[in-house]
Amino acid sequence: MADKAILEVGGQKYEFPIITGTENEQAIDIKALRGLTGGLTTIDPGYKNTGSCQSAITFLNGEEGILRYRGYAIEDLADKADFLEVAYLLIFGELPNESQLEKFHNDIKAESHVDEDVKKILDGFPKSAHPMGVLSSLTSALIAFNPSSVNVDSEEDMYKAIVKVMGKFPVLVAWALRKRTGQPLDYGDNNLGYVENILKMMFKKANADYDLDPVVVNALDKLLILHADHEQNCSTSTVRIVGSSHAGLFASLSAGINALWGPLHGGANQAVLEMLEAIKEDGGDTKKYMAKAKDKSDPFRLMGFGHRVYKNFDPRAKIIKKAADEVLGALGVEDPILDIAKGLEQEALNDPYFVDRKLYPNVDFYSGIIYRAMGIPVEMFTVMFALGRLPGWIAQWKEMRENKEPIGRPRQVYTGENHRAFKERAER
Ligand code: SDX
Repeated sequence: MADKAILEVGGQKYEFPIITGTENEQAIDIKALRGLTGGLTTIDPGYKNTGSCQSAITFLNGEEGILRYRGYAIEDLADKADFLEVAYLLIFGELPNESQLEKFHNDIKAESHVDEDVKKILDGFPKSAHPMGVLSSLTSALIAFNPSSVNVDSEEDMYKAIVKVMGKFPVLVAWALRKRTGQPLDYGDNNLGYVENILKMMFKKANADYDLDPVVVNALDKLLILHADHEQNCSTSTVRIVGSSHAGLFASLSAGINALWGPLHGGANQAVLEMLEAIKEDGGDTKKYMAKAKDKSDPFRLMGFGHRVYKNFDPRAKIIKKAADEVLGALGVEDPILDIAKGLEQEALNDPYFVDRKLYPNVDFYSGIIYRAMGIPVEMFTVMFALGRLPGWIAQWKEMRENKEPIGRPRQVYTGENHRAFKERAER
């Protein structure tokens, strides 16, 4: 494997080191480019070829459809671990033993109260407010109630901030749903497991007991694991770059929530359901929507398909597709859009437009079908994505700060007006 790259510009040769990661990924280190060449920079819209950092948290191989958290295969974690274990693994680097996990959960429970005054902020929203906007606002509002910034050089201070976020965020998620459904705000029950408590906070009716269905608990636990991290995706890069200015953890997370909201990113799970519903209303005419997706003059895209990194099946989509059959079967839910989704997948996998562009179902294609079967409203789908992604965001923010990464400030190529003399108003 090469250990250096030579760049020749105007007859002058410049040498740059090549760094190699633990999975033999290689990158040209261009930190010295501008200084060596007297001003040359690079340009790469969407950073399709540009790495922003070296990270030890998550490994993806898009060609082979591989996803690992801290070296553990996503298939093993989804099958054998629970979400709180995976959150601990992502944030602290190792799977916890029984006592570490119990302490982590107890410390989170101790921080799971949200100041009653936050409810006054929630009251200001109309019921129709999108829950992602509510969640990012309330996450940012938590700064006012937890004003001390994280001393990242103190392990104790960092740990305290982590359990605070892990404890309070699920309450905000539940409140965002209950605001929308007109339910009184609930604090759940600290005698329950982490995911069980989330479900109870979300769905318990004020005047009735809430019976936990193990099928629903296991399905949500698995979905949260599958969404927990995904290296330098749009929202994680946002959390890192906001945090690189030394803005606080809550502020960085709030920014990440807003980045995730976009329909090209986490908002796709809601867009997929809306697309499948439209196809169903249209008599199940998948061919019409396939044609729209391929028509360059039509802005419509096959939501839940394609991926910046995966040029093979998204391993998470495979697991979720299997879980969709299991969960709907166990819950006795017949959902015709699951069959529409499968039909669409089959057509796309045999269509040259999709095959040539290596467009496969991604994590968002089937997840909404399970969320809906679990009784989660479609506007909450991306909130559930954020709930899963939370430990990944925390882990990446922590790594960025502990590595003392410089403030993120990309360069540009200016294409505007050259210098010109000021024109007096009377002359314009
Ligand atoms: C997530 O990065 C992550 O890791 C994200 C994520 C995570 O866990 O954090 O995995 C979660 O965001 C998954 C992606 C969810 N988004 C969608 O499902 C929205 C639909 N997909 C696309 O918009 C698109 O595929 C992206 C945004 C996901 C990726 O876009 P890229 O990498 O910028 O690719 P591109 O837009 O340049 O597309 C390449 C070609 C283009 O055609 P040509 O110009 O070559 O002719 O493929 C076409 C695109 O038009 N194309 C699609 C398509 N996706 C790409 N055509 C129709 N339908 C689609 N879905």
